[in-house]
Amino acid sequence: MRALRKMAQAPGLELCDIPEPAVGPSEVKIKVQRAGLCGTDVHLFNWDGGAPGSLTPPQTLGHEFFGEIVEIGEGVAAGFGCDELHPGQHVSVEGHIVCGRCRNCRAGRKQMCLRTVGIGVNRDGGFADYVVVPASNVWVQPDLIDPELGALFDPFGNAVHTCQQVEMTGQDVLITGAGPIGIMCVAIARHAGARHVVITDVQEERLDMARSVGADAVVNITRRTVPDVMAELGIREGFDVGIEMSGAPGGLTTLIDCCTHGATLALLGLPKGAFPVDWGKVITRMFTIKGVYGRQMFDTWYLATFMMESSEKLRESVRSIITHRFAPEQWEDAFEAAASGTAGKVIIDWEK
Ligand SMILES: NC(=O)c1ccc[n+]([C@@H]2O[C@H](COP(=O)([O-])OP(=O)(O)OC[C@H]3O[C@@H](n4cnc5c(N)ncnc54)[C@H](O)[C@@H]3O)[C@@H](O)[C@H]2O)c1
Ligand SMILES: [Zn+2]
Ligand SMILES: [Zn+2]
Repeated sequence: MRALRKMAQAPGLELCDIPEPAVGPSEVKIKVQRAGLCGTDVHLFNWDGGAPGSLTPPQTLGHEFFGEIVEIGEGVAAGFGCDELHPGQHVSVEGHIVCGRCRNCRAGRKQMCLRTVGIGVNRDGGFADYVVVPASNVWVQPDLIDPELGALFDPFGNAVHTCQQVEMTGQDVLITGAGPIGIMCVAIARHAGARHVVITDVQEERLDMARSVGADAVVNITRRTVPDVMAELGIREGFDVGIEMSGAPGGLTTLIDCCTHGATLALLGLPKGAFPVDWGKVITRMFTIKGVYGRQMFDTWYLATFMMESSEKLRESVRSIITHRFAPEQWEDAFEAAASGTAGKVIIDWEK
């Protein structure tokens, strides 16, 4: 089978021909249909950021994917019951494998596990014709979720999990960073009934995408400021909710400066390192700040699928974030598009 692999501790990848993986106990084998690229894959390709140290070559990348179950391992609850698995089911996959032994796991807070293993980061992932994953990581999707939408559930789940941290209905929501996940937050805020949704970025292309999924205003911070837009929209006292999706220090600064007293700030964007924060403002404005990682297992998955099922508009908004589709043999073009900083979501079609 084809597999896009890291072969050495150095920049680059190779599209290899390797044997199909064997399914072990408590695992399922999936025929991959679509896989999405994200910033982590670009770092693993470049072998920069936190990539060295997290992956031991040779290893197949890919943690955002959708496909069909083709084989069930020993010990898996197999069958046709509502929570049983069988070949032919279409699934997205939670990319974090948890230990099951730490206190958080035992208390049911699996997304807070102390020893997560990442599919496509610490073990073979979904940039391949077939992948084997623990049955407990599989999320069976309804027919309404097609392969492309299904491949977006990892980042869409990040967006849902972040928005789960705050009240959005009737609120003024400020999002910093119009990458794919920030744009998905715009769509979710609209779906949740926010009053005003405003998003910032430094890239016009991405702000255009955010506008088309329903942002009331988009702010290119190299050209104008959020307070200009607040005056235009009639937001007098500041935003009720801040969502950080850029990982840039300036993104958090914008939220701290533009949110009202008592606002909740949910931060998913991952900064490259430590940076100064005006804690005096955080304290005197009485903000609640929440760090957000991954997706809640598996409540986020229920919410994400149920929201998608309930709204064609949300499905089409999320789908519109896909700007590039490539065959596996064009993987170099796919990585170039993903690294450009102006694309939306880049998808590899493993059925080609
Ligand atoms: N915590 C988690 O579990 C988790 C999971 C996935 C992604 N992430 C992080 O979440 C963030 C969003 O992911 P993505 O895939 O959409 O990322 P992305 O890198 O594609 O998007 C970030 C966007 O922020 C913009 N930006 C840069 N500086 C800015 C500034 N000062 N103000 C406003 N915008 C600015 C960039 O132009 C870019 O469009 C990234 O930082 C990513 O690393 C975290
Ligand atoms: Zn990712
Ligand atoms: Zn654990």
